[in-house]
Amino acid sequence: MLLHDESPAAVEEREKSFVLGNYARAPFHPRSGKGARITDANGKEYWDLLGGIAVNALGHQHPRIKRVLREESTSLLHVSNLYYHPAQGILAEKLVRASGLLRAFFCNSGTEANEAAMKFARLANPGRSGIVALNESFHGRSLGALSLTGHEAYRAPFEPLVPGVTFVEPNDVAALEAAVNENTSAIFLEPIMGEGGIVPLSAEFLIAARHVADRTGAMLVFDEIQCGLGRTGTMFAFQQSGVVPDIITLAKPLGGGLPLGAVLTGPALEGLVKPGHHGTTFGGNPLACRLGTVVFEETEKLLPTIRNLGIWFENELRTRLCVAAGAPARRDSSDTSPVTAIRGMGLMWGIELDRPAGPVVAELRERGFIVGSAREKVIRLLPPYIVPKQALSELIGALASILNISSKEKAA
Ligand SMILES: Cc1ncc(COP(=O)(O)O)c(C=O)c1O
Repeated sequence: MLLHDESPAAVEEREKSFVLGNYARAPFHPRSGKGARITDANGKEYWDLLGGIAVNALGHQHPRIKRVLREESTSLLHVSNLYYHPAQGILAEKLVRASGLLRAFFCNSGTEANEAAMKFARLANPGRSGIVALNESFHGRSLGALSLTGHEAYRAPFEPLVPGVTFVEPNDVAALEAAVNENTSAIFLEPIMGEGGIVPLSAEFLIAARHVADRTGAMLVFDEIQCGLGRTGTMFAFQQSGVVPDIITLAKPLGGGLPLGAVLTGPALEGLVKPGHHGTTFGGNPLACRLGTVVFEETEKLLPTIRNLGIWFENELRTRLCVAAGAPARRDSSDTSPVTAIRGMGLMWGIELDRPAGPVVAELRERGFIVGSAREKVIRLLPPYIVPKQALSELIGALASILNISSKEKAA
């Protein structure tokens, strides 16, 4: 194999020999993109409706992202956290003012943000070892974050994990109230569970979590790594319910494509995190933070569009895929729709099927749509905030065709 051979076959061969086999990659070789379009190594174009798993929120080649990259290339890429640089404070101020929390800590990923949140919660509750999280939650892959992740297949090979974590069913208020006690340091919740199949937590459940956290002193942590930063149509997902957490974790879109995570802390943490308690070499580097400021400012402008697109898209999905709100739709008296549920908000959607999602995702890719999956049967959509209606409409058409939902059935 020639070293310079970058054909798809050569890329796959070389990876097979030299890259650790921890990913089951799809046979897709993206090489360039613009806006919500992405182009593979053979020049075929696709609608990118997954955005690098919720990372490319402004789409590809956004002019402001490109400008910051150009400008910063003549400046310092790294200064370490030993010294001052304006970029962290500027982004921190924006995140703090928009969330109503008080301070930001920057790191490099979602996992690291949750890891830091676990530690900060311990500082608020010294000696308490309990954590309550949800079945089918996803909080990351480090030993700490994995300990909060309620998915057996991810956990089992690495047990024993950090002890003291109790898992409860999403939206089961009684189970949550029973699990949280005076030994609980934190309750970790994703307001909309991403990997768990795009499952929104009910307002009732979030309110109950706030109450039980107040009663016991446990820190309420919202992991908004996937659902935050504009994804639901508000800057933070918690603003949909009005339930304010003590800690918010962020990552994915924050760095405009570069690694950047953040932890936002509220009044309960004020004054507790002292020099030496936590830190990172790369976290909050100037380039990532400058990009974060662009992402934040552009997202702010796009929030009404995201909200409106979400309302329109849900209606289109339900009408054209024959899924009534709240109940499995019937195509005729003897048959149910292959789409069993539609869940989501803004530009975060799960389309649950009566069959494995994998082959449908592959067929959609063949037809020019990049989408993801979650759990076994859910098609996951996390398109960039600049996605045109046309892309979403064409996706529904392709899905209806793959699933054999005909217009005759639609009318029934
Ligand atoms: C809700 C949530 N939390 C945490 C993580 C982990 O983030 P990262 O992969 O950046 O470590 C993810 C990643 O998918 C996530 O969706």
